[in-house]
Amino acid sequence: MTINFLINLSYIVAAILFVLGLKKLGSPATARQGNLISAVGMLIAVVATLGGKGLLPWTYIIAGFVIGSAIGAFAARKVEMTGMPELVALFNGFGGAASLLVGWVATYAAGNSTFINVTIILSILIGGVTLTGSIIAWAKLSERMPTKALMFTGQQIFNVLLVLAILGSAVMFCIEPSNPVWLWAILGLSLLFGIMAVIPIGGADMPVVIALLNSYSGLAACAAGFVLHNNLLIVAGALVGASGIILTNIMCKAMNRSLSNVLFSGFGSAVTSSTKVEGEVKPITADDAYLIMEAARSVVFVPGYGMAVAQAQHVVKELADHLESNGAEVKFAIHPVAGRMPGHMNVLLAEASVPYDQLVEMDDINPQLPNVDLAVVIGANDVVNPAANKDKGSPLYGMPVIRVDEARTVFVLKRSMGSGFSGVDNPLFVGDNTRMLFGDAKQSLSHIVGEFKS
Ligand code: TAP
Repeated sequence: MTINFLINLSYIVAAILFVLGLKKLGSPATARQGNLISAVGMLIAVVATLGGKGLLPWTYIIAGFVIGSAIGAFAARKVEMTGMPELVALFNGFGGAASLLVGWVATYAAGNSTFINVTIILSILIGGVTLTGSIIAWAKLSERMPTKALMFTGQQIFNVLLVLAILGSAVMFCIEPSNPVWLWAILGLSLLFGIMAVIPIGGADMPVVIALLNSYSGLAACAAGFVLHNNLLIVAGALVGASGIILTNIMCKAMNRSLSNVLFSGFGSAVTSSTKVEGEVKPITADDAYLIMEAARSVVFVPGYGMAVAQAQHVVKELADHLESNGAEVKFAIHPVAGRMPGHMNVLLAEASVPYDQLVEMDDINPQLPNVDLAVVIGANDVVNPAANKDKGSPLYGMPVIRVDEARTVFVLKRSMGSGFSGVDNPLFVGDNTRMLFGDAKQSLSHIVGEFKS
């Protein structure tokens, strides 16, 4: 058995582990396992590439592992759940930077073919766009720069000129690869293009952009794989590229928006509803809410962004336990874009040890809602807005929502009559069967739990 055979065998094992890992990420019950399997795949890939090919001494490889793992473990432990998109943005940026550097280094090799030169350009271009785009996304999400969409006159023309300049420099680089001017031009213009592509996007749309940048980081790695003639990097990059695009598409569909609308409309910064909601708001106190809850035989909780803000997941779980001991059937209805990142609600509820079999997806819960005694909306707004089904003038029209208005009684827990991410008014709040429980979700729920305890 030659060393090359062993390296290729390790690559096949690693690729299988990546695919298995991705598959397991599809369900909250197996996601942790999926993460671990993929990480083992990556370990095998790195050891086979660096050690097997004798590119680095083992001491360097081990030192790299120890330092990298320590930084990764520290970052993952320290990050708050709500800060996860920022962390992913930074990881994407690093991925882009790595591909950019691979492309850059490859220009030092003499006698590259035109094909290799094209892959070098792609590594630098996509890697550069991913790097600066991710940094802007991180800065917007962490409010280190203004989160709203930044637009200026002539922006589109400027972007078109930028793309033309990148194309021109790329062609010139293929003609004159030894002239460093073209390489510097591609690098500088790509970094600028990453900034220009992300600044016109509203801060709250950033999770979609992060999924897209994740996909770009995969494509950049794929291009770097061609530069290095490394099959596993090509496979891994293609997997990241494809899964990122699928995730982007799922998020856009669940928000009933096209990708171009997310990228170019400045949504979430200045949207107002076309239809004003009128009707009587019926507030309820936590004491009265307790009495209705105690009598309910079936309760469906619908968590949203406000539950994450209030950090109410643990107290919701406590309340669910009380309701179950009281003989009620309890479920949690999960909308695919509730919160601000994919799987946001699943992760929070898992953190509070809510059993996976109590989590029900939107399409499965909707037909059951007319038979449910009580739907409790916890800091959710857009994902339960009936205007999405009924009001053709609403910007949300066509977005699939959880039809809580069909339950016998609905409680909405939020602090005010304020709108959600989309800025659209919600007729649910004035529905005949709706009672508004105003206040911080955690405080309201803690009060009800206190009543159950006494
Ligand atoms: P939103 O529509 O954003 O509504 C959240 C509600 O939570 C607000 O109306 C707010 O009302 C309430 N809230 C905030 N803090 C609270 C607290 N401490 N206690 C109680 N309530 C609180 O949330 P949603 O229904 O989850 O919908 C998500 C939105 O984000 C959708 O429009 C979706 O398209 C968008 N989005 C999602 C994603 C992903 S991947 N999940 C990505 C990009 C965009 P008050 O201020 O009155 O309390």
